[in-house]
Amino acid sequence: MEIFDYEGGICKPAQELGVFLVPAVNGCSHNKCTFCCFYKHQTFGMIPLNEIEGELIRAKKHGAAVKRAMLVGGDPLALPVKDLMDINDLVRGYFPECGTITMEASVQNLRRKTDEELIILRDAGYNDLYIGIESGMDSVLRHVKKGHTVAQAEEQLLRLNRLGIRHAANLIFGIAGKGMGVENAKRTAEFLNKTKPFAITIMALFLPSFVEMYQEIQRGEFVPADLDEMLLEERTLLDNLKLEGTRYDGSIYEPPVRLSGVLPKDLPRMYKKLGMAMEKYGGEIRDAV
Ligand SMILES: C[S@@+](CC[C@H](N)C(=O)[O-])C[C@H]1O[C@@H](n2cnc3c(N)ncnc32)[C@H](O)[C@@H]1O
Ligand code: SF4
Repeated sequence: MEIFDYEGGICKPAQELGVFLVPAVNGCSHNKCTFCCFYKHQTFGMIPLNEIEGELIRAKKHGAAVKRAMLVGGDPLALPVKDLMDINDLVRGYFPECGTITMEASVQNLRRKTDEELIILRDAGYNDLYIGIESGMDSVLRHVKKGHTVAQAEEQLLRLNRLGIRHAANLIFGIAGKGMGVENAKRTAEFLNKTKPFAITIMALFLPSFVEMYQEIQRGEFVPADLDEMLLEERTLLDNLKLEGTRYDGSIYEPPVRLSGVLPKDLPRMYKKLGMAMEKYGGEIRDAV
């Protein structure tokens, strides 16, 4: 079987199990976040339309039924609307049954699109944008070179809500560093309570040796949070979220602790699992909650 030769990292949110992946861009138009390892070796650019079409033809030939699709790449929303519409036409041409087309996107991408452009994309079937929010603290966003402020993120997400475009918030456990997990969780919860994402997707910070933040740790300039603190950060976040019907997925890998469910309905089950993880792996945090 032929395989599409995609050279970047593929970041597919946990909530998008089973989504059909459409190669759309190589790399990320920002590519400066100090923690991110996905696209460091790549130059941002759209994958040629004929190659995207080749992948759609291949999938069609193998009998794929596409109910929902996701554009692959760091931030396909950085593409001009015309290119996004060309990709949209292709996907719907081969798979007329396709509903929503989702993608990763950044606050910076949103700031560069007008209401009119976002409405064109929404009406074409783009929705459920996964946005890299990472933290509700400006000091953290500055430190990791995220390229947006908390106020800018809030403005853009409220604009999406107004325009009827759903968004998910990507966050990172441990991003604020040692001793800052609880504060980060409280401030991030405040942000999420205002911006009301349809989903929250959180990964624990992982740092391969080639990323800038890893080097900061080596130089003693950043001290990462340990497992205890990340569990406490998650507990604090859940304690402070006041959202109805938001899908939540939080993953810590080492050891694996994954909580997922719908807020607030599934909170009791999630608290139980988190409590067991704290009991099993937590040291000093047992007394703190
Ligand atoms: C590949 S990015 C795409 C999102 C979009 N480019 C943005 O940042 O606004 C998807 C998410 O992966 C997560 N991520 C990236 N690097 C990570 C790391 N080293 N550890 C944990 N999560 C990470 C971040 O939450 C990020 O928003
Ligand atoms: S987190 Fe997103 S914006 Fe930052 S470098 Fe990675 S892909 Fe680009």
